[in-house]
Amino acid sequence: MRGFRPTREEALSLLREAGCGEGVIRHCLAVERKALELAERAERNGVRVDRELVGLGALLHDVGRSVTHGVRHGVEGGRILRERGLHELARFAENHLGAGIPREEARQLGLPDRDFLPSSVEEKLVAYADKVMEGEEEVSFGQILRRFEGELGANHPALTRLRKLHEEVARMTGGEVEVQG
Ligand SMILES: [Fe+2]
Repeated sequence: MRGFRPTREEALSLLREAGCGEGVIRHCLAVERKALELAERAERNGVRVDRELVGLGALLHDVGRSVTHGVRHGVEGGRILRERGLHELARFAENHLGAGIPREEARQLGLPDRDFLPSSVEEKLVAYADKVMEGEEEVSFGQILRRFEGELGANHPALTRLRKLHEEVARMTGGEVEVQG
């Protein structure tokens, strides 16, 4: 179901109005660019993608960084967007951390007791584009994996989820499925 959507300009204004810094806004623009590129490739590969939703979701995924840069920024972003009636877009903020956070881990992190997993094609493309864009710089999948390993340890289940998301996006976009890093 298509919820209420702002225009691109309104989404950018919302980031500023919420109090996001310029660095966060530039990152959101970089993620928008990357996510739309992936969406176009997926479409050419025969996958149905709502490109407007991908663009808006990418722009607004980090709006919660106006409140905190910690692990709660997804939930906070979701709250900000839901307060404005943007429920469809709230999911992009809530479900973009790592390659998604399942309920059990959410509980351990002190997040609300539920899954925070990207489920639609659009949410997966945005979560993945966010991993590819560190700030405004594009990094390789190998670099993303190493960063996850460095931060979480080599045996953390988030690494398996990241590999799965990578394979899924590669398949959608008709790209290489190379998961060694
Ligand atoms: Fe984020």
